[in-house]
Amino acid sequence: MVTGQRRTFSVPVLRRVLLHVKGEILWHEPLAPHTSLQVGGIADVLVIPADVEDVIRVVRSARMSHVPLMVLGGTNVIIRDKGIRGIVMQLKYLTNIQEEASQLVYAQAGVRLPRLMQFAFGRKLSGMEWAAGIPGTVGGGVVMNAGTRLGEMQDVLHAVDFVTIHGKRKRVDASTLSFLYRKTRLPQGIVVGAWIQLRSAAKDTIQSATKHYLQYRKTTQPLTLPNAGSVFKNPTGDSAGRLIEAAGLKGMRIGDAEVSMKHANFIVNRGGATAEQVLTLVRTVRDQVARKFGVRLQLEWKVVGEK
Ligand code: EPU
Repeated sequence: MVTGQRRTFSVPVLRRVLLHVKGEILWHEPLAPHTSLQVGGIADVLVIPADVEDVIRVVRSARMSHVPLMVLGGTNVIIRDKGIRGIVMQLKYLTNIQEEASQLVYAQAGVRLPRLMQFAFGRKLSGMEWAAGIPGTVGGGVVMNAGTRLGEMQDVLHAVDFVTIHGKRKRVDASTLSFLYRKTRLPQGIVVGAWIQLRSAAKDTIQSATKHYLQYRKTTQPLTLPNAGSVFKNPTGDSAGRLIEAAGLKGMRIGDAEVSMKHANFIVNRGGATAEQVLTLVRTVRDQVARKFGVRLQLEWKVVGEK
């Protein structure tokens, strides 16, 4: 979520907005270490709310002071080198998870998908196996309708625990939402949790499916190097990875940003890549694929921050 207009905010102004926050407040925080690709500049301030009440406090107070507020997921996002003005919020302390009713799991936005999977497995609940190896969080997964060829968030999402831009908490039923390819159409606001509808299954069945998907990802994707997941969406009836490889772009490098040799629809950070290098590589790949095959690839990543 982004509210307010872009301008520079002095520390005293931001300090006033954040006066009653119980969680962590990190001034001029480099954001690269908070993202999976490890590129990007600094946030004026990074806030890590202690609980949902803290989130509401920040939302209301930022809105009253016209300070922009953005929630950072971190695994599917590229932050530009000039960083982000205003308040960046990370929900990593929202980690409650419980089986609220039979086969209905409530998980807060900061719960990582692998933990949700582990939780479900422990209770013999199936439905999240498609997420094997996805490093993101429940919140990020809901916002982007995370998924693979095997399934997606839409398949299991029952309802969303939501804070509106006015700082009101509400439950939004999944049946009232529309889901697109890697995007959920949500009202403006912040996802603070989700109810996930699973179903009973034998532990062996869940485990073998999970292992199979995880193995497939390990074999085909560069999971050991910093990356932000698939760069482009798959065009209808084709795959971005196949097109990029066929264009001869595997291994192409700008600075420390490299089109992965293992999977062409991944860009990996070879150590010191900048956002500028990554985004130049993205443009180059898109232009060359368009020139060779007449297909304009659409970015799956979200790019944020000052230009
Ligand atoms: N391919 C190539 N060259 C490559 C990579 C792939 O020719 O360098 C070909 C493969 O041989 C295959 C086809 O492209 O025939 C599809 O490749 P793959 O099975 O690896 O799946 P993908 O479509 O590239 C999707 C998701 C991934 C998810 C995998 C596995 C998208 C954009 N990506 O990848 O999701 O892990 O399926 O289920 O839908 C993500 O979204 O961040 C992500 C990693």
